[in-house]
Amino acid sequence: LLEANKLSDDSAAPQTGGLSDASKAQIDAWLQKYPADQRRSAVIAALHIVQKENGGSLTEDLMNQVGAYLGLPPIAVYEVATFYGMYDLNPVGRHKVNVCGNISCHLRGARQMIAHLEDRLGIKLGETTADGKFTLREVECLAACRNAPVMQLDEDYVENLTPERINEILDEIK
Ligand code: FES
Repeated sequence: LLEANKLSDDSAAPQTGGLSDASKAQIDAWLQKYPADQRRSAVIAALHIVQKENGGSLTEDLMNQVGAYLGLPPIAVYEVATFYGMYDLNPVGRHKVNVCGNISCHLRGARQMIAHLEDRLGIKLGETTADGKFTLREVECLAACRNAPVMQLDEDYVENLTPERINEILDEIK
């Protein structure tokens, strides 16, 4: 990950590129949910929108653009983007496989699921497959503990994981 201290905290950071019209329209829809003087409230959604359009990760330029669009200094955007694990500041695979390794999932076989995924994908945690298709990570609690073990595949949760279920899912994607 880019480290927060490598990012400029200069509110006059260069504003290059530009958000797409599609991104702006989606951000505008979120802005409608908040008072006009609370544009900051849309920063989490805005980062999701631009990250998705950018293939799953953010760049400093995109964060600057989000800040400019919302009327926020860049640092206010960096603070959010670097705090939450749902944002990626480096390129990722087309599919993000996030396996919960927290206590309930750990007790119900998360290590086995991770080992199986590493084996199937031929990569280790934190890596991306050579074809750029999958990035595999361990994450903290996904708040679906009741159906542990759990992984998040892009925007979907897969619960009560088994090696067989993992195989089915990967086969469907491939
Ligand atoms: S511990 Fe895995 S979802 Fe909560």
